[in-house]
Amino acid sequence: MTESRPATSGTIAETTAWRPAAHFTARATWLNDPNGLVYHRGTYHLFFQNNPHGSSWGNISWGHATSTDLVNWTELPVAIPCTDEEMVFSGSAVVDHRNTAGFAADTETALVAVYTSATTAADGTGRQAQSLAYSVDDGATWSRYAGNPVLDIGSAEFRDPKVFWYGGDDGHWVMVVVEATEHRVVVYTSPDLKTWQRVSAFGPAHATGGVWECPDLFPLRVAGTQETRWVMIVSLNPGSFAGGSGTQYFVGDFDGVNFTPEHLTASDQLVDYDWLDYGRDYYAAVSFSDVPDGRRFMVGWASNWEYAGETPTSPWRSSMSLVREVDLVRSPDGRHRIRQRPVLPNDASRLDLPPGATAVASGGDSATDDGGAADDGGAAGVLVFSMRVDAGDSATFVLDGGADGEPADGEGLRITVDGNAGTISCDRTGAGDTGFHPAYASVDWAPLPPSDDDADVELRIVVDASVVEVYTGDGLVALTELVFPARPYRRLTRG
Ligand code: FRU
Repeated sequence: MTESRPATSGTIAETTAWRPAAHFTARATWLNDPNGLVYHRGTYHLFFQNNPHGSSWGNISWGHATSTDLVNWTELPVAIPCTDEEMVFSGSAVVDHRNTAGFAADTETALVAVYTSATTAADGTGRQAQSLAYSVDDGATWSRYAGNPVLDIGSAEFRDPKVFWYGGDDGHWVMVVVEATEHRVVVYTSPDLKTWQRVSAFGPAHATGGVWECPDLFPLRVAGTQETRWVMIVSLNPGSFAGGSGTQYFVGDFDGVNFTPEHLTASDQLVDYDWLDYGRDYYAAVSFSDVPDGRRFMVGWASNWEYAGETPTSPWRSSMSLVREVDLVRSPDGRHRIRQRPVLPNDASRLDLPPGATAVASGGDSATDDGGAADDGGAAGVLVFSMRVDAGDSATFVLDGGADGEPADGEGLRITVDGNAGTISCDRTGAGDTGFHPAYASVDWAPLPPSDDDADVELRIVVDASVVEVYTGDGLVALTELVFPARPYRRLTRG
């Protein structure tokens, strides 16, 4: 299927220029949420909500890609295709080391995917229940479990199971799954992935202006200590801080049954809650299972349901975020906040921006005057701009497609740090093609993280074709924004 709407200048080269290098895209099709993130035998598996037959949402199946470095991904055949009866909605994957489900013979180890079967009941109403598929060839091929679904409460709004093993040999499986319209994450336990018992629930809490989706729950280290806290991730659509889809989180404790947050506020202000990302384009973020050494990597879908179906690329549509390594930082106010650090390609161009200067990426292919992009139409690869803003100072940086010494052509992403107000903002109202959907053009902002009064604000801006990720406060605040410029961004100027 071709996209419903042509790109601004209607060229294939243009959408090629918008295809990021290190943010995963499907070769020629639609994607949304990351699913089944798992590390197994030296390989990271990224499954994803995929329409194998088009560039719009539909025929939802689990696409599949693998990587050994979390940056370079290889797309593989669809892992779990939809059928006439069932779409394969979001979920997770585990390595069944103890063969609790009995899917593995002798020397085999089973990977088990736990996903939401989205079906239509005889009376025409939707039905969402949890089902299993398994692989005994390290993820190459997948079979549905004959006893599906394994968890069905007769609901049309019950989805996105995230499963993990809790405890040692005497432990059990835990599933967190949402009752989406109830704003509730429900906890189930199981000895074998096939029989599940409801043991507790968390929510409603904090943002509830839309459905709750794609929960996650995992232990996370507190930087510089031997301590661990548990983190509950809850995606919300619509009703997020930036508008539309977004991902909030809660830090607390989990005892195998109950999750207890360490901080809940009675405030009804979205700014008082904790958000993984304050931009418009970071949703359904979940973490990898089974990564060695207790490390935790997350990835989100770099789009927003408000306009995801209209973004002007073809034939691929939507990308993942960069993979981010996360840990917790104890803030001066005693609360714990998630710190995120993107996994960057080794060949990223790293540019430091001294005060008052301009940084322009060289190498890669340069933009041409006719608004297209040179060579194969690709962008300049991944660029990482780093800079500092003096404490109390205010500064605007303009990211655009200009060359050294050339005046700005007016198109660009404007990033402003306001030291007095304690905010950072991204203005994409003039960032390129903004006309594909009325909800796209926006100015998004975040509070700067708590810090010593006289500390500089440090900024890192990662540019990868149509995805810009902005990090400040050492990764305590992130903003992810899609941009569709006529010329790939490669210059940053202090305005
Ligand atoms: C989140 C979501 C999930 C659902 C999937 C369907 O973006 O709505 O709740 O499982 O997408 O594609």
